[in-house]
Amino acid sequence: MGQPTHALTQHDWWRSAVIYQVYVRSFADGDGDGTGDLAGVRARLPYLAELGVDALWFSPWYLSPMKDGGYDVADYRAIDPAFGTLAEAEKLIAEARELGIRTLVDIVPNHVSDQHPWFRAALAGGPERELFHFRSGRGAHGELPPNDWPSQFLGSAEPVWTRLPDGDWYLHLFTPEQPDLNWAHPAVRQEHEDVLRFWFERGVAGVRIDSAALLAKDPALPDFVDGRGPHPYVDRDELHDIYRSWRAVADAYDGIFVGEVWLPDTERFARYLRPDELHTAFNFSFLSCPWDAARLRTSIDETLAEHAPVGAPATWVLCNHDVTRTVTRYGRADTGFDFAAKAFGTPTDLALGTRRARAAALLSLALPGAVYLYQGEELGLPEADIPLDRIEDPMHFRSGGTDPGRDGCRVPLPWAAGAPYAGFGSRDEPWLPQPADWPAYAADRQSEDPGSMLRLYRAALRIRRTTPGFGDGPLSWLPAPDGVLAFTRTDGLTCAVNLSERPVDLPEHTQLLLSSGPLDDKGLLPQDTAVWLHA
Ligand code: NOJ
Repeated sequence: MGQPTHALTQHDWWRSAVIYQVYVRSFADGDGDGTGDLAGVRARLPYLAELGVDALWFSPWYLSPMKDGGYDVADYRAIDPAFGTLAEAEKLIAEARELGIRTLVDIVPNHVSDQHPWFRAALAGGPERELFHFRSGRGAHGELPPNDWPSQFLGSAEPVWTRLPDGDWYLHLFTPEQPDLNWAHPAVRQEHEDVLRFWFERGVAGVRIDSAALLAKDPALPDFVDGRGPHPYVDRDELHDIYRSWRAVADAYDGIFVGEVWLPDTERFARYLRPDELHTAFNFSFLSCPWDAARLRTSIDETLAEHAPVGAPATWVLCNHDVTRTVTRYGRADTGFDFAAKAFGTPTDLALGTRRARAAALLSLALPGAVYLYQGEELGLPEADIPLDRIEDPMHFRSGGTDPGRDGCRVPLPWAAGAPYAGFGSRDEPWLPQPADWPAYAADRQSEDPGSMLRLYRAALRIRRTTPGFGDGPLSWLPAPDGVLAFTRTDGLTCAVNLSERPVDLPEHTQLLLSSGPLDDKGLLPQDTAVWLHA
């Protein structure tokens, strides 16, 4: 505690780290073709160092037909040519390290792209069919899917089975271009452990595991019978053996894992974080929680209680490439996040949402454990409305067009207010259109504005790095009026957040370290404002 988390020698850095998610396609376009790339990231490493993050998590950068934004991987050992080359990725990893920044890659083990050599060979009728889930259909002529499983894209009415001309069906929990692997097959396990080694050998410090609770399937592929017995494909016990082997691979390199585990059952969630399994998992209950003091406090308490028995640090996440951007969500009447409730045209008050997002940033950065930031969160970017004819996300299409999809949080970043495409790239239009007011959010403009979101994040990350008490460690709640969250950490560090309508007194302190907005003229903490104090 109190150690600079960026010290590259620090073995348990991940227990307190601030990890920044890079969605390469939308981060920065180095070659001007409208798509973000590794050259763009390399040019912005000084920006990330100045922001003060400890590590970068790259959403999949591998060879991919991009049917699901790169989560359809055709080759786990090659960089997509739109992004660059493997040699550039190696340079990027090394250059980031020079700046004290570690790298995490994103492994997608549940499925591959339909262009992956294994699936192509399977379609050609080879023995590779055993590496997937191929079945005959039901009905007199096999014309019905083998079972009734619901799609993992919520709101999707599409089946999770696709029929081939030869009459067989194959399973895909996501799009038809993402066939599910058969994790009961030893070659699937072997291959993924080799892929992990491949990236650890290249100097990555950790791996984010996509859809981590979905890999194992009931071999009988039975119908989905709600609530009775183990689920046929979510959170099956067989997964833990897989992750124990992965942990042995990671330990040889001092590497870490963060699992994408969406599970409402806290006890089942914590099983993934036992000391010989994953180091951490994303805290989606905090992400989904409405802006409400009592509910946030419950979410925080439950998070800490579920992690304590397994000795794993919590993670705090407000957004990522799949969910509605924070400032938009917090400005709505319903401030929680729910995939099933996404709709076009939900009204939002961005000034209110931004005030709350600033307070939420200080709250999450003061909680015990690690924090994930999603690119553009530090710029306070809102969710963008994407014209219907420009939407690319399969979630939109698989919902029959009712779900806006996830492109609204994936819009290319604004870097320079006066430059074409707000400085994202130089020549071609970005792959997703930027809203007209994007220049107002540009990083260069925010750099000059002491009241900007970027300046708040820079200040917060600098204080979090250099002041004892942040990161992993204990938390004690302080007595506080209704609607106010106040807690102390070690070394006299205190955080208070006022979600009530009335301004409140600050907890006892000797020094105001940082506030998310101005105090009122009586020195009270106004609504939707957070402070860090030294007692
Ligand atoms: C979770 C990823 O975050 C999401 O973007 C993707 O669509 C699914 N997994 C399928 O890989």
